[in-house]
Amino acid sequence: MPTLLGCDAAAIAQAAQTLAQGGLVAFPTETVYGLGANATDDQAVAAIFATKGRPSDHPLIVHIASADASAHFAHSIPAFAQALMTRAWPGPLTLILARKPGVANASAAQQPSIGLRCPSHPVAQALLQAALDWGLKGISAPSANPFGRISPTTAQHVMALFADTLNPIQVIDAGACSVGIESTIIDCTRGRPVCLRPGSLGLEALSKLCGERVLTSDEMPNQQAPRSSGDMAQHYAPRAKLRIMDTKAIQAALDILGPDARQIAVYARTRLHNPHVLMRPMPHTAIACAQDLFAALHDFDAAQVKLIWVEAVPESEAWAGVRDRLRRAAATL
Ligand code: TXA
Ligand code: MG
Repeated sequence: MPTLLGCDAAAIAQAAQTLAQGGLVAFPTETVYGLGANATDDQAVAAIFATKGRPSDHPLIVHIASADASAHFAHSIPAFAQALMTRAWPGPLTLILARKPGVANASAAQQPSIGLRCPSHPVAQALLQAALDWGLKGISAPSANPFGRISPTTAQHVMALFADTLNPIQVIDAGACSVGIESTIIDCTRGRPVCLRPGSLGLEALSKLCGERVLTSDEMPNQQAPRSSGDMAQHYAPRAKLRIMDTKAIQAALDILGPDARQIAVYARTRLHNPHVLMRPMPHTAIACAQDLFAALHDFDAAQVKLIWVEAVPESEAWAGVRDRLRRAAATL
């Protein structure tokens, strides 16, 4: 059962104590809300997997208060990764590093690597600091959604997503996340930086920050890579069927359907017309769209529409994160 906490000092102190005692806390980050547990408590981490219904071979990201804590989890940090830590942390960036043997086994899903991220959200930072006072070196947290569902960008999304869950979860409410899509993930274990999941921090910017060109996973595929939820074709799926379309096709279909378009939602930058459809304007910039995207999908699900028609987004690098999430939401098993 999720219970809502505020985000004041008392709430954070209570949440840190819950984590120290092996409990689960959902907390805001600048990207999405995470479902957290003590990173080095394998039993507490097992409760994350059970609560999400996540396969136990999908590793979790460990959140740390500062780059200093990375030495506790990672046993070697290449120079380009060090540069990224110095220049892009705290921020929406996860680095995959070689793991210190025996540390955070459950969180790493027994992989020889570990994902580390230092979030910039002040409430996440306060929680990490308070947890550190209890001796917790890190908080493991995947996005706070059941496996395969849309990530939450508000505490209310978390409450709704886990409404039927029996496990106790304390949910820190600090309003909407500013970035809105999950962190960019860079694999630093293969000699060159390789992007495993695009996010708001783009590859051009990251390449400049670390002094090496960051490769896409297509440029450097890895057969041995662990299964990861972000890798799977269908992920971030709304209950309704989502299609990416050009606006001419959407308008033509809306004209034919007339009042029969009632169970359809349209998410588009272009103004389209049908008084019966659930119309939500898509923000015109990639940054604003990323912020709005998951909230839009949650709202469409809550309205119980059967179809979601989304205007295709620009092909530019700025839109890579949004494009990736839309492509996955549109994929069917
Ligand atoms: O923005 C974010 O990254 C959010 C917030 C809460 O920090 N977290 C998040 O976690 O998106 P999650 O579990 O939903 O996605 C983490 C991704 C998964 O695809 C996972 O498989 C991958 O990171 N990952 C974690 N550790 C890994 C590792 N050692 N090797 C490869 N992939 C890893
Ligand atoms: Mg996730």
